[in-house]
Amino acid sequence: MPQLPKTMTAIEIERPGGPEVLRAAERPVPEPGPGEVLVRVEAGGVNRPDLMQRLGKYPPPPGASDIPGLEIAGTIVSVADGASRWRVGDRICALVSGGGYAEYCAAPASQCLPIPEGLNAIAAGAVPETFFTVWTNVFERGRLAAGERLLVHGGASGIGTTAIQLARAFGAIVFATAGSDDKCEACRSLGAAVAINYRTQDFVEVVRAETSAAGMDVILDIVGGSYFPRNIDCLAMHGRLVQIGLMGGPKTELNLRSVLDRRLTITGSTLRARSVAEKGALAREVETHVWPLLSGGRVAPVIDRVFPLSQAAAAHQRLESGEHVGKIVLEVGREG
Ligand SMILES: NC(=O)c1ccc[n+]([C@@H]2O[C@H](COP(=O)([O-])OP(=O)(O)OC[C@H]3O[C@@H](n4cnc5c(N)ncnc54)[C@H](OP(=O)(O)O)[C@@H]3O)[C@@H](O)[C@H]2O)c1
Repeated sequence: MPQLPKTMTAIEIERPGGPEVLRAAERPVPEPGPGEVLVRVEAGGVNRPDLMQRLGKYPPPPGASDIPGLEIAGTIVSVADGASRWRVGDRICALVSGGGYAEYCAAPASQCLPIPEGLNAIAAGAVPETFFTVWTNVFERGRLAAGERLLVHGGASGIGTTAIQLARAFGAIVFATAGSDDKCEACRSLGAAVAINYRTQDFVEVVRAETSAAGMDVILDIVGGSYFPRNIDCLAMHGRLVQIGLMGGPKTELNLRSVLDRRLTITGSTLRARSVAEKGALAREVETHVWPLLSGGRVAPVIDRVFPLSQAAAAHQRLESGEHVGKIVLEVGREG
């Protein structure tokens, strides 16, 4: 087996700030701890939480790498004790709590999954963060069932494009909101029955009109703030609101009357802060329920653009611009 190098190139956050604070640096190749594998990274997704980490608003959880990057795909190059499922040479993708913007990344064995059949490393590196998040929030917390209606806010985002496809694949009727007609068209092409340009239409009115006032069974929301009372207005009897982002702010007011009258559930969660045991259990659920859909080509990550690792700042600029549809990916080992 070829010797592993001692050092690698990684992208550091020099200090909190704009995309320019992302700098290539030489770092030691991580040592996988018990229960971990070391992965030679080929690609990794860029996610909105990475932007928040760069701004200093989302510090890595205790024990996690300070290098950004929450998902990777590549080849296992070493296996520590307690990671017996995997062998050197296995090609996997993994959910990690940091460290993905690098040539090598340690990953808990339980959070690794085989690269789905038919996907290359770029596509596989764009899977874990959004597919895990959507599974646990829409299907576990939101209990979305076939035939029910789901409203996805930010339908053209990484999370949104995943939620639309998975909900359709499980037989739900999907409504989505997005900030332009082109993004609405992208949502429809992924399977949304109704796409609402929130800049020109009131989503509450459209939901009322399109559902004969019955409303939505589940709402997946990344905005919060002023959307909260409007989401409550859109929920059907027994409706579930699942909050996973707060891009419009964390504070709001709630008239509890509608929660009682319509027997609503308000829930939400974050993924990154969960323990390895919780993430491992989620990985098994995703492998059972979602992996066959990915391998069969029934759902796929939507790739907006691929940047070489050295252009992480440009990748962040693209994500921050909000012009993208789907996922932005960093490719490792390709010079820009
Ligand atoms: N809880 C969790 O476990 C978890 C995990 C991953 C991500 N998230 C959250 O999910 C959200 C989406 O993540 P992502 O990686 O899919 O992001 P993304 O691809 O960058 O998508 C974000 C999109 O949201 C829309 N948007 C709506 N309101 C906005 C506002 N006030 N400011 C900026 N953009 C706004 C924009 O599209 P339009 O043009 O359509 O407005 C934007 O392109 C983020 O809030 C992220 O923090 C949560």
